[in-house]
Amino acid sequence: QPQVFHDPSQLRAEIRQAQAEGKRVGVVPTMGALHEGHLSLAAESAATCDVTVVTIFVNPTQFAPGEDFAKYPRTLEADLQLLSRFDPVWVLVPEVEAIYPPGSTTVVKAPKIALPWEGAFRPTHFDGVATVVLKLFQACPADAAFFGQKDFQQVRVIEEMVRDLLVPIEVVRCPIVREEDGLAMSSRNRYLSAEEREVALSISLGLNDAAERIAAGETSAESLLHKMEASLRSAGIGEIDYLAVADPRTLESVQTISAEVVILVAVRVGTTRLIDNMLVSPP
Ligand code: PAJ
Repeated sequence: QPQVFHDPSQLRAEIRQAQAEGKRVGVVPTMGALHEGHLSLAAESAATCDVTVVTIFVNPTQFAPGEDFAKYPRTLEADLQLLSRFDPVWVLVPEVEAIYPPGSTTVVKAPKIALPWEGAFRPTHFDGVATVVLKLFQACPADAAFFGQKDFQQVRVIEEMVRDLLVPIEVVRCPIVREEDGLAMSSRNRYLSAEEREVALSISLGLNDAAERIAAGETSAESLLHKMEASLRSAGIGEIDYLAVADPRTLESVQTISAEVVILVAVRVGTTRLIDNMLVSPP
């Protein structure tokens, strides 16, 4: 059974003791509403560490006013049930006050890589993510931390923060887990109606199509993006926040595809905002 901690300092003491016994500790930060995407990170931790810590905390500071903080799904009992497949697994479920002590005003300013794409549409988001993740690393001084490539820019932000602030943790990137039909798993998929779910499928189809074109020798980002936008539109996606071919390290736009790129996409399907991406190398 998962061992649940509410008090970060109690968990920290247990982690330090495990490490003193020579154990390697992995941490998987999440906001709960767990699905097989999250569980793949925990599985990677369990495969490479002696103890896996999963944090479940819906972080208020990474949501802007008007975003879905209040209605973000909270399914703790089901989450713990899903985590019981791992042993040992320690789960941190802190109160807001345990992570943001009353009166606290110190924050992390996210690195510059946070500015484009997601950052342009959610200007305060990555400062909130960087702040909470650093706090979670303090509460859970693990040896390795596992993040999904699903949130590609997020894992780049964390990698830069860890480097810039000399955080003693190894950041491990894990591949995107998809539904059988290709839709990237997300806690927000549960907001989609059956029709919207169908429309959302065009995102992964568009990414696959772009990857095939690159494999077949397409080098023009503009032409790829044009085609992909047309297919999203014809599937019924009205609002595209961004669609980009970028350098996976700098996240700067790429015009001519001559090395590995990441194709980044963020759209709205109904009122639900969905993101996805794919790393692709030219032949
Ligand atoms: P959350 O959206 O719950 O995601 C937690 C972790 O699971 C992230 O590293 C995310 O990239 C990963 N993940 C989500 N869906 C995935 C999928 N389909 N395949 C693989 N990995 C997937 O990301 C956050 O929470 C928060 O911003 C957090 C880092 C916890 C800070 O609050």
